[in-house]
Amino acid sequence: MKFSTVILLLSVSICQVYGGHRFGYSRAEQRMWSRTHQGCSGKYQSPIAISSGKAIPLTMPALEMVGYHNLLPGPILMHNNGHSVSLSIPKHTKEEVEGGAFMPYIFGGKLKNEYEFEGLHFHWGDKNNRGSEHVLNDIRFPMEMHIIHRNKKYANVSEALEHPDGLTVLAFFYQLIENDGSELQNLVRNLPHIREYNQSELMNTTFSLSSLLGNLDTERFYTYKGSLTTPPCSEAVTWILFPDTLTVSVSQMSKFRHLSNGVEGSVLVDNYRALQPLNNRHIFVRKVNIKSTPLEGLNKEISYIKWDWLY
Ligand SMILES: *[C@@H]1O[C@H](CO)[C@@H](O)[C@H](O)[C@H]1NC(C)=O
Ligand SMILES: *[C@@H]1O[C@H](CO)[C@@H](O)[C@H](O)[C@H]1NC(C)=O
Ligand SMILES: *[C@@H]1O[C@H](CO)[C@@H](O)[C@H](O)[C@H]1NC(C)=O
Ligand SMILES: [Zn+2]
Repeated sequence: MKFSTVILLLSVSICQVYGGHRFGYSRAEQRMWSRTHQGCSGKYQSPIAISSGKAIPLTMPALEMVGYHNLLPGPILMHNNGHSVSLSIPKHTKEEVEGGAFMPYIFGGKLKNEYEFEGLHFHWGDKNNRGSEHVLNDIRFPMEMHIIHRNKKYANVSEALEHPDGLTVLAFFYQLIENDGSELQNLVRNLPHIREYNQSELMNTTFSLSSLLGNLDTERFYTYKGSLTTPPCSEAVTWILFPDTLTVSVSQMSKFRHLSNGVEGSVLVDNYRALQPLNNRHIFVRKVNIKSTPLEGLNKEISYIKWDWLY
């Protein structure tokens, strides 16, 4: 994928209304989640451990990422909500998007609908051997990015959370490298401005989602039905995880680890939820065909049928 150009916008600090909800990640605190949010003790929770050998290979359409190469309709709002760094496009911007710009959306894979970009955030560790929420073949990566998409048939995220097909989250793992990659640089540069809990900033640059993904291979992915990994843990998420990894440098990683979580003298690290039981769910892995066959259309329908009996 191609890097985006970066355009200058404005630099204003504003505050965000939602996301003020507090919860902690210590073992004891995570056990409390289900006391305040019944959803967190559900049977189809996330994250989970994925093992490539146990995933069911399935023929399904490629994931189409529409508008991922376009610059996001800015300005992009960056927020330290005390449990992550989140990026989103303020609501008023969405309604005033000019010149035919649109929010990126995805379809394909096992998705039956189009899902529109809502925002993204990260999970990371205090040490390099932890941080990702999902575990792939026993590996816990130092960081995981979640790009959240809402089913277009629902008006907003709160409504989408009420439905099993409400959201799709694309999950990307990071590996540590020595030198700064350009993919995260825009974002990391602004982290010091949102060091404190509940600080927000409108970035003076915008970028495309594909600029965050570099040359990542999106052909092969795992998919399963699960939940939000934070309260209220709604079982509304189709997860799509990519085994190909993105990169983050040691120095970029340390900027994430310097953010405050709002507790005096404490930093925002290890914001990942404990692994949840798979129970009777299946994890599918997309079979990547060397060359596509005329049967592709037929296979699509078959794979959709298999999906439904789970719910
Ligand atoms: C976060 O900031 C917003 C805007 O300043 C404010 O309305 C809200 O009360 C703050 N939330 C917390 C939990 O401090
Ligand atoms: C979400 O959409 C529903 C249905 O249109 C509406 O009733 C609700 O007020 C909206 N919620 C938010 C937070 O915008
Ligand atoms: C944009 O933001 C960056 C990082 O905060 C800053 O270094 C730069 O000077 C800003 N540029 C303008 C034109 O405001
Ligand atoms: Zn997340």
